[in-house]
Amino acid sequence: MTTDKNSPIGVFDSGLGGLTVVKEMGHYLPGEKIIYFGDTANVPYGDKTASQLIGLADNIAGFLMAKGVKAVVDACNSTSAVALEFLQKKYDVPIVGVIEAGVRGALNQTRNGKVGLIATRATIDSQAHRKAAEKLDSKVEILGQACPLFVPLVEAGKVNTPETIKAANMYLAPLQRAGIDTLILGCTHYPFLAPLLKRVLGDGVCLVDPAENTVLELNNLLHGKINESQALSFSHHEYFVSGDPAAFKEVGERLLNAPLGAVTQIPGDKSMKAVP
Ligand code: DGL
Repeated sequence: MTTDKNSPIGVFDSGLGGLTVVKEMGHYLPGEKIIYFGDTANVPYGDKTASQLIGLADNIAGFLMAKGVKAVVDACNSTSAVALEFLQKKYDVPIVGVIEAGVRGALNQTRNGKVGLIATRATIDSQAHRKAAEKLDSKVEILGQACPLFVPLVEAGKVNTPETIKAANMYLAPLQRAGIDTLILGCTHYPFLAPLLKRVLGDGVCLVDPAENTVLELNNLLHGKINESQALSFSHHEYFVSGDPAAFKEVGERLLNAPLGAVTQIPGDKSMKAVP
C-alpha cells in the first residue's frame, strides 16, 4: 500500500463526468495532485451489464494503482453501484464511491420524503440508491428515472441545445408529476446540466450533486481537515483517456471553463475493454 502523503489521488469515470468531482476536489483538496482516467473508448457505461462494469472498473483501478495513487475516487455512479465493494476488497488503498454521498445529500434536503433520482440505466437497475437509503435507515421514497440521452449529449458538449432541453423536459416530467422536492444527480455527467435542470424544475426542487459529500468523505479518510480554496486549477493534474484525447481536452475545458493538463491516450489497450 502507498503511504506517501504526496502521492496522487486516482479518479475515474467513463468519460468527462468525473471532472465534476475533480472540480469539487479543487475546492476542498486544493493541494492534491490527481491522476484522472476517462474510459472514453467505452462510454457510455450506462448500457453495460454489472459484470462488464466490474471488469472495466477493475482494469482502470489496476492502471491507477500502477501510477502509485494513495486513494481512488470511483467518480462514476454506474461502477460505484456495482463494483465498489469488489474494488475495496481487492485493492488496499481507500476507495470511495458516489452513491451513498448522493443519498446522504438527499436525506438532508428532502422535506416531503419524495426523492427523484436521475441516473443511467445501469445505476437505476442496480437499486443501489434505494439500498443505501435502507442502510441509512431512511424511509424516503426514491423515484428513479433513467436518462440514456444525457451522457452522449454531455460528452458532445451539448449542455444547452434544443435536443438537450427536449430530453430534460421528457425525463423530468414524470418526476415533477410525482411531486418530488429533491433530485439526486445520480450520474457524474449531470451536474454539467444543472443550470438547465434547474430551469425546467423551478425553485421547488433541490438538486443534489453527490460530489461534495464524496470529497468530504475522501478528505476525512486522508486528512480529516478542510482546506477550502476558491482559486480552482486543473492544469497540474494528469489526464488519461482510452479514446480521443483532443476531444476530451476541448470539451472538458469548455465545461470546466479552465485549462486542463496534458491528456494522454492509452491507445487500443485491450485491458481497458469490457469483459464479455
Ligand atoms: N458518469 C457515469 C455515471 O456516473 C457514467 C455514465 C455513462 O457512461 O453512461 O454513471
